[in-house]
Amino acid sequence: MISIRPLSPSLGAEVLDFQLSSNPSAEAVAAIRALWAQHKLLLFRNQSVDEPALVGFSQQFGALEIHVREEYLSPEHPEILYVSNIERDGRLIGILSDNEVGWHYDQIYLPQPAVGSLLMADTLPPEGGNTEFADMCAAWDALPKQTQQKLDGCLANQSYEAFNQAYSVPTNNKQKARSPDIHHPIVRTHPVTGRKALYLCPGMTTEIVGWDAEDSTEMLAFLFDWTTRPEFVYVHQWQPGDALMWDNACTMHRRDPFDAQHQRLMKRTTILPQAEVGMPF
Ligand code: OGA
Ligand code: MN
Repeated sequence: MISIRPLSPSLGAEVLDFQLSSNPSAEAVAAIRALWAQHKLLLFRNQSVDEPALVGFSQQFGALEIHVREEYLSPEHPEILYVSNIERDGRLIGILSDNEVGWHYDQIYLPQPAVGSLLMADTLPPEGGNTEFADMCAAWDALPKQTQQKLDGCLANQSYEAFNQAYSVPTNNKQKARSPDIHHPIVRTHPVTGRKALYLCPGMTTEIVGWDAEDSTEMLAFLFDWTTRPEFVYVHQWQPGDALMWDNACTMHRRDPFDAQHQRLMKRTTILPQAEVGMPF
């Protein structure tokens, strides 16, 4: 039996007394899969997980993406992306350094976006670097009916380039070719819960396709403000041994900056959609 404790009124649950490993029981995987869909964000505390175990556990939930930023992958386990401000041999070992990272979904810019990510704290600064999550189902549900009707069926343009300009470093040409701008529906239906969720984010969504530019800008500004209202957001303050697993179809996330004097290293796996579940749109 797996027990949980809610993290906030809207989203998130802490999974109690559970150790991540390469070989969880089939029952545990099924239970976690259901909790993941229901709560959208799962916290596992006091973990001690090496890289093979992080990969092995994550693989229980789907194939893992090898991230386009190959310069930030774990040398031994390319399924793991380092998120870090640590420099070794004169170069950053991880993505996103120590600056603020704006609201985004992981890999919204891919034709088959990731269904989730698992982020394991390895080295933490004494403060700062909180990660926030917004519940995009709750944000959709609370929208006025008229706005819902306007948005349902629309596509938006998603740009990894826009995100990199604002928060990261530019991709090289090969990476650019693998992550061009792409259109996705603004409203997704979650494949497990059947709930609708908004699918747009300040960090990567540049316009509503086919709308007049002014209307698109105005609507996006309204939605960016709306979706990040405190009632839809959970703020995570990291503790050593924390691992977070989020649903990437119905949450977006951002990160606070932290003091560049301190080191932070997080290790991320990125879970792809399962063929049998199909595209979650
Ligand atoms: C990520 C991410 C935020 C953080 O790994 O996808 O956005 O807290 N990380 O470093
Ligand atoms: Mn992210």
